[in-house]
Amino acid sequence: MTLIKTVKEVREEIKRQANEKGFSIGFVPTMGYLHEGHLSLIKRARKENDLVVVSVFVNPAQFAPNEDFDSYPRDIERDYKLAIDSGADIVFTPEVDEMYKENSSTFVNVEGEITKKLCGKSRPTFFKGVTTVVAKLFNIINPTNAYFGEKDAQQVAIIQKMVNDLCYDINVISCPLVRDEDGLALSSRNAYLNKEERKQALILSKSLFAARQMFLNGEKNAQKLKHFIINKIKTQGIIEIDYVEIVDADTLEYIETVEKRSFIALAVRIGKTRLIDNIYLEV
Ligand code: PAJ
Repeated sequence: MTLIKTVKEVREEIKRQANEKGFSIGFVPTMGYLHEGHLSLIKRARKENDLVVVSVFVNPAQFAPNEDFDSYPRDIERDYKLAIDSGADIVFTPEVDEMYKENSSTFVNVEGEITKKLCGKSRPTFFKGVTTVVAKLFNIINPTNAYFGEKDAQQVAIIQKMVNDLCYDINVISCPLVRDEDGLALSSRNAYLNKEERKQALILSKSLFAARQMFLNGEKNAQKLKHFIINKIKTQGIIEIDYVEIVDADTLEYIETVEKRSFIALAVRIGKTRLIDNIYLEV
């Protein structure tokens, strides 16, 4: 018998007493239509874990009624093959009513500015849907390590906060953003872009790269970097700029001067497609 008072110790003791001690589970949650960005997470999970689980679930709770839940691209056979070829042992692809029983009414919501700014501003219910489904998936899979892409930098910070706040015993591992050869950030939603729009979209990564170069050359003023990007994006005739912001990488607080590790994040609409991109400024 052991009397334990701290969360850390009780976990360690449970692990010590459990037979499966040391057997690690890597988990990669996705909404499918997998591309090299997703696959980079799966490959990393393969390297670092005994068992790799990938979920493919287009989560209705993170789409607003006017958004693209119905038209979101889906191809589970292709996804299954790609995931397995990249090292997954199990692909979990539940139906909506498996994840949300008819009378389901419990949500996980990270309160505060962290979920209200950037993407949370124009998509006010989005992150509540993300944290609810990720919490459910964590409870189902019980991973040791969970892998998330820096493509969604705000999502990474929010999931990390949820894990801290709710005492999940899970390592959140953030993985670098993967781009196409020409710089466009890979996204399942790139499938919506026509040829002309795809060309226009290149200005996003181009302007982020140029702004980072300005920063490396000594420009630390966030407003100057931000307006440089906005002006550059406008040269491509993109008028629907949702936001361009520079924030502290951990707290997501707006900053005036880049003095700590930060990222520049942006969201625009090109035609009917909403695209996001970001770049980290290492200090
Ligand atoms: P989805 O957009 O399918 O992305 C799944 C994971 O892949 C996320 O962690 C995302 O950041 C990562 N990812 C997407 N594009 C990437 C790229 N170009 N480079 C690196 N990583 C990339 O994000 C979601 O799904 C959902 O919100 C989810 C967490 C699954 C909850 O429903």
